[in-house]
Amino acid sequence: MQDVIIRRLRKYDQALVTNHFNSLDEDVLLSRFGTPVQPEGLRHYISNMFANAALIFGAFPDSCLRGVGELRLIPDHKHHAAEAAFTVEKVWQDQGIGDALLSRLITVAQNRGVREVHMLCLATNQKMRRLAEKHNAELALVPGQVEATLTTPWPTPFSMAKEITSEYRAFTRAVLSWPNHV
Ligand SMILES: CC(C)(COP(=O)(O)OP(=O)(O)OC[C@H]1O[C@@H](n2cnc3c(N)ncnc32)[C@H](O)[C@@H]1OP(=O)(O)O)[C@@H](O)C(=O)NCCC(=O)NCCS
Repeated sequence: MQDVIIRRLRKYDQALVTNHFNSLDEDVLLSRFGTPVQPEGLRHYISNMFANAALIFGAFPDSCLRGVGELRLIPDHKHHAAEAAFTVEKVWQDQGIGDALLSRLITVAQNRGVREVHMLCLATNQKMRRLAEKHNAELALVPGQVEATLTTPWPTPFSMAKEITSEYRAFTRAVLSWPNHV
């Protein structure tokens, strides 16, 4: 999808994130977490999403939050690595939103000196596997799942400018589209 607005989500976006996760059907949640999720478990997960310096980004293809990308540092990993995870509402899938979110997370990881981005998905998750392959990730089969590992380049002035410009652009669009919520 051309021109999807992606911006960093903060604690004050909790209500948007909650609505997004509550709108996801069972299949999407199963693919996201790799196992069935009970409502209480989901509530607990959402309420802790912004903890531990997680970097959370939201995609706004219209005026609503339709996709979320999460980046979390893996503590004590020898290669300074992070784990990424994604959710896109079903009716908005296959339009490039996942790709746009992954591209943003790669830039964000690069700018923070993260050298590896790991993504874990069910072995049957063709969309995630396709996305990972498009970004030249190495895929490794673990029982029932696939672990994709992306090697991130070192930060550059260009990657810094790219992140700042994208965030600034999202902010400008939000101001111009007020009072619609972005
Ligand atoms: C995985 C997910 C984030 C991808 O988001 P998305 O917005 O649909 O992704 P995109 O549209 O950018 O890309 C999907 C790609 O998969 C391809 N694809 C779709 N169905 C496919 C299939 N059955 N087999 C192979 N490729 C397929 C699409 O053609 C597209 O590739 P292309 O850009 O080369 O055409 C989304 O499907 C999702 O939220 N799934 C449920 C949660 C999940 O699985 N999260 C990942 C684990 S953390």
